[in-house]
Amino acid sequence: MKSQIKDLNLASKGEEKISWVKSHMPVLNLINQEFSKSKPFKGKRVVICLHLEAKTGYLAQVIQAGGAEVAVVASNPLSTQDDVVAALVDSGITAFAWHGATSEEYHEHLDSAVKFEPNLIIDDGGDLVALIHSKYPQLLKNVIGGCEETTTGILRLRSLEREGILQIPMIAVNDALSKYLFDNRYGTGQSVWDGIMRTTNLVVSGKTVVVIGYGWCGKGVALRAKGLGANVIICEIDPIKAIEALMDGFRVMPMLEAAPLGDFFITVTGNKNVIRQEHLEVINNNAILANAGHFDIEISKPDLEKATLDNRKVKTNIQEYTFSDGRKVFLLAEGRLVNLAAGDGHPAEIMDMTFALQALSLEYLTQNNSLENKVYKVTKEIDERVAILRLASLGIEIDKLSPEQEAYLDNWQF
Ligand code: NAD
Ligand code: ADE
Repeated sequence: MKSQIKDLNLASKGEEKISWVKSHMPVLNLINQEFSKSKPFKGKRVVICLHLEAKTGYLAQVIQAGGAEVAVVASNPLSTQDDVVAALVDSGITAFAWHGATSEEYHEHLDSAVKFEPNLIIDDGGDLVALIHSKYPQLLKNVIGGCEETTTGILRLRSLEREGILQIPMIAVNDALSKYLFDNRYGTGQSVWDGIMRTTNLVVSGKTVVVIGYGWCGKGVALRAKGLGANVIICEIDPIKAIEALMDGFRVMPMLEAAPLGDFFITVTGNKNVIRQEHLEVINNNAILANAGHFDIEISKPDLEKATLDNRKVKTNIQEYTFSDGRKVFLLAEGRLVNLAAGDGHPAEIMDMTFALQALSLEYLTQNNSLENKVYKVTKEIDERVAILRLASLGIEIDKLSPEQEAYLDNWQF
């Protein structure tokens, strides 16, 4: 199939980017060497629906080295880096994506990706899997299974499974320990601030940061805000997470109370309308609004438009909204994931582990052909193997249980 991309001439810039991250992804490098010999995906078509930046580009090349015919498609219209996509096409991968695709183009690209007739899928957020189930069910018979990258995608998969609609086995990569403990927490923690700081060029120290959602991502965003010298407020709906935030040293209050206090607001709940009309009515003048959750529905853009007189672009990725009383707020990256739409996503060393899990889980699907149409955990062996390889790449050794200790831990009689 013919690729649908912005400009093939950008390829050399994309190759530079991929080459840089590759030199910081030692675990994936090892898997690349393994796959180049064992060819686990020989004769298989793989569709990868992820944020199309350099680390994803390298993952696509590793799957290709494993013998697959690979197509990539964007999981978000603003996170696509056109130079990376061009480099992939240059290396024989089919691509359907360009930066800033309209909603219509985004869905056309997903349609094209499904028509590539995948045998294996990597999805991020569930749009590809939802599309193939709803519009192209006849193609599901070719699909061995797939892997899902993020919390929101797994919620959608579990809903498909509960309703008895899921027709393929799916592996919940997000739920592996060596994924969410590092990617969601430290990856999001660092890359969200990278995205906000490179876009606004404003100081964080001494400011009030409101983080809405204290899950794995929210903890990382709050921790890094504290490290930058901010006063951090957490808004939660889960009483246990709220106590956790309190014990971690943060103030906890409802969003309505936090709205007049914050200088930066970061939503990271996976939920919708967490910043809405009632909050906007009292929100602090000059507040910066950013989202790090999967979809651009956490900050209600319809409410923002209703509550304000007008809005204008003041800088790339910054939209200024003016209220009738003269207050202003600034929305970053159209309310899409700020670390990917206004940044390069998580650091390479973090995505090394996440994408190693993706690659090994995809291989697992090819080796286990009696899986049911369910959502599966990443196996403990794969999860631990990724952690072991990461430690080894850092030259770090850890202790082992002695036989005596193993026996002690296994025995109820002391
Ligand atoms: P999580 O389930 O660990 O945390 C979400 C938290 O939000 C929970 O504690 C929940 O109680 C809270 N919450 C839900 N609704 C709320 C509301 N109305 N007000 C306040 N709190 C609310 O999930 P997570 O792994 O932290 O992921 C959060 C989102 O971020 C998901 O959409 C996920 O897909 C996405 N994600 C983004 C990135 C990124 O790179 N930006 C990386 C990983 C995950
Ligand atoms: N880069 C590619 N995919 C990503 C993701 N899901 N989160 C953060 N950075 C990424």
